[in-house]
Amino acid sequence: MKLWGGRFRGKTDELVERFNASLPFDRRLYREDIEGSVAHARMLGKQGILSEKDAESIIRGLYGILSDIESGRLVIEGDSEDIHSFIEAELTKRIGEAGKRLHTGRSRNDQVALDMKLYTREELDRMKEELAELIGVLTELMERHRESYMPGFTHLQKAQPTTLAHHLGAYREMFRRDCSRLSDCRNRLNESPLGAGAFAGTSYPLDREMTAAELGFDRASENSMDAVSDRDYLLEYLFDLSLIAMHLSRLSEELILWNSNEYRFLRLSDAYSTGSSIMPQKKNPDIAELIRGKCGRVYGDLFSLLTVMKGLPLAYNKDMQEDKEAAFDAMDTVRDSVRLMSGMLKTIEWDTERMRESAKRGFSNATDVADYLVGKGIPFRTAHGIVGELVLYCEGKGCSLDELSLPEFKAICPEIEDDIYGEISLESCVKKRRTKGAPGAL
Ligand code: ARG
Repeated sequence: MKLWGGRFRGKTDELVERFNASLPFDRRLYREDIEGSVAHARMLGKQGILSEKDAESIIRGLYGILSDIESGRLVIEGDSEDIHSFIEAELTKRIGEAGKRLHTGRSRNDQVALDMKLYTREELDRMKEELAELIGVLTELMERHRESYMPGFTHLQKAQPTTLAHHLGAYREMFRRDCSRLSDCRNRLNESPLGAGAFAGTSYPLDREMTAAELGFDRASENSMDAVSDRDYLLEYLFDLSLIAMHLSRLSEELILWNSNEYRFLRLSDAYSTGSSIMPQKKNPDIAELIRGKCGRVYGDLFSLLTVMKGLPLAYNKDMQEDKEAAFDAMDTVRDSVRLMSGMLKTIEWDTERMRESAKRGFSNATDVADYLVGKGIPFRTAHGIVGELVLYCEGKGCSLDELSLPEFKAICPEIEDDIYGEISLESCVKKRRTKGAPGAL
């Protein structure tokens, strides 16, 4: 059944039907669509726009549809154009004439704007829970690994020693910022478009604040034309998801590196790895790779909607139907990715001995030797040069700085005494760094 058949005589082309339809993907909005319609019908009844009897029968009919969909008795399929038409047709089939009154003072334009907002808000709240879980996993790991020494890198070269807690703590900060960004986004999106009609409001005495409050919004939106044309909140959410995906991708990249045969800082659990069809020895970090890879499609979803919206005249245009597949894809992808990352981190076996060995190699304590020399009254720039010479000497000998004997130290720099060993050990290199945010301050 078409909601707009009256004006038409000719039959719609078959490909047009398919191209135009959104039911195959907006079917997932059924709950939001029903919630919105219930609020609308209740308000119409209270305002005397519908009789109380009609309003009640509509609301009962809608709840019946909801429970039948959830129990699987009613399957969303058929030739309805979209979820809004599907539910309205089903309602009319069930309750007769009253069903045809539901759409009084409403357009699919404010209806779809509402449904998508409700859905996004729900998703956003769920995403915050997933992130909170991930932040919890990172916090637990940090507590366990305050003394797990490892090299910190710049340019992927060993730079200075740090701890696993410090390294993972950096990601915890990223995910905390992501959470706070989601809260900002939620605050801005929480205005109800319902009652904006096609774009110019309506002559019925709707109570927009009543439906807004019933649906958990802070207020009804200010301008009815903006209400049906705005997808800023969705773009903002897609951007927030893109950042989350980017943070997950960076973390995945490190897990992949650290799981590699060369690093061996960690072993991913079998549950989060896969094998090779030809090389029997292989255990591949496919899940981390996929999380890294899927970041690309999330960016793509953001750019696809940005591009759809660019240049659209006010108010509603059918182009905006294209918001859904992109948004759903990004939401599903990032939610799964966050959940998988939590599971993967929980089951990793960390080889802290190997990390420690790696931190000891590669001169990650060179800055500390220079700082030691500064303590002996040598200017930092001169100290930097002396340590450079010491490193060169060690490289020739194939040893680390703390493995040099005192006479070897003194041959290059006579100011060095045997208190140097206590100053440049891995533990003291880390523990001395007590500035706010540094590994020794954790
Ligand atoms: N399926 C449409 C969408 O997702 C619903 C709104 C239709 N409105 C209209 N004026 N054709 O945007």
